[in-house]
Amino acid sequence: MNVLDFQKMKDEGRKISMVTCYDYSGARVVAESNVDCILVGDSLAMTMHGHATTLRATTELMTLHTAAVARGAPAKFIVADLPFLSYRKGLKDAIEAVQELMAAGAHAVKLEGVRGHAEIVRHIVDSGVPVMGHLGLTPQSVNLLGGMKVQARTDAAVEILGAQARELEAAGCFSLVLECVPSEAARKVTEALHIPTIGIGAGPDVSGQVLVYQDVLGLNRGFKPKFLRTYADAFDLIQTALNAYDRDVKDSTFPSESESYS
Ligand code: KIV
Repeated sequence: MNVLDFQKMKDEGRKISMVTCYDYSGARVVAESNVDCILVGDSLAMTMHGHATTLRATTELMTLHTAAVARGAPAKFIVADLPFLSYRKGLKDAIEAVQELMAAGAHAVKLEGVRGHAEIVRHIVDSGVPVMGHLGLTPQSVNLLGGMKVQARTDAAVEILGAQARELEAAGCFSLVLECVPSEAARKVTEALHIPTIGIGAGPDVSGQVLVYQDVLGLNRGFKPKFLRTYADAFDLIQTALNAYDRDVKDSTFPSESESYS
């Protein structure tokens, strides 16, 4: 997978699968899966560090996790999130954040929203770095949006979403994440754009899907938004294994003779 394959897959009607990943051991699993590409999302502030929102992600943190993922999945296409406000302090600061993520092993960066971003997107793309846009529910704006709510629920809001998507496409984005918007809105935007859309909570009529690794595997116990399909109960699986280990230690059946040096 490289950046050109995103467009090729949309043009050929093949769906793109993307999953978030934040660490080396997770990346090794994704590396040997069929999933097309990885997002080192700023959701790592929540999934890996226990914060309530993504606002606590920093360029330093994103760089650390991107480097670990790149070591674990060297053959996968990796998109890294530009964290909260890192691209709002002028072109110089934005390009420095991009440079750190790319040096850590990213192949593209993602940024949220569009207001005031067209010039930044153009500058990053003109510097040789592919940019993925992100519209709909943009978690870095959670305070402005008044919570993690489904967006583009009215005809007027769908019009605005479409116009913003076209603006990002014109600025040079190679693809666009649509988060938590009604299926019909996502379908309209996807049809209006040449570039592919990657949905999360955006229904089936998009060019691909992205989910959070912990959510796919059932590690985020109790998190059950409507859009989520959980493919395993890894929380239970891991806990059962840990309890079996604990039992074996306590009744002295681990380690056995074959697991000990003579
Ligand atoms: O940070 C993230 O995980 C994301 C996805 C939800 C698209 O941006």
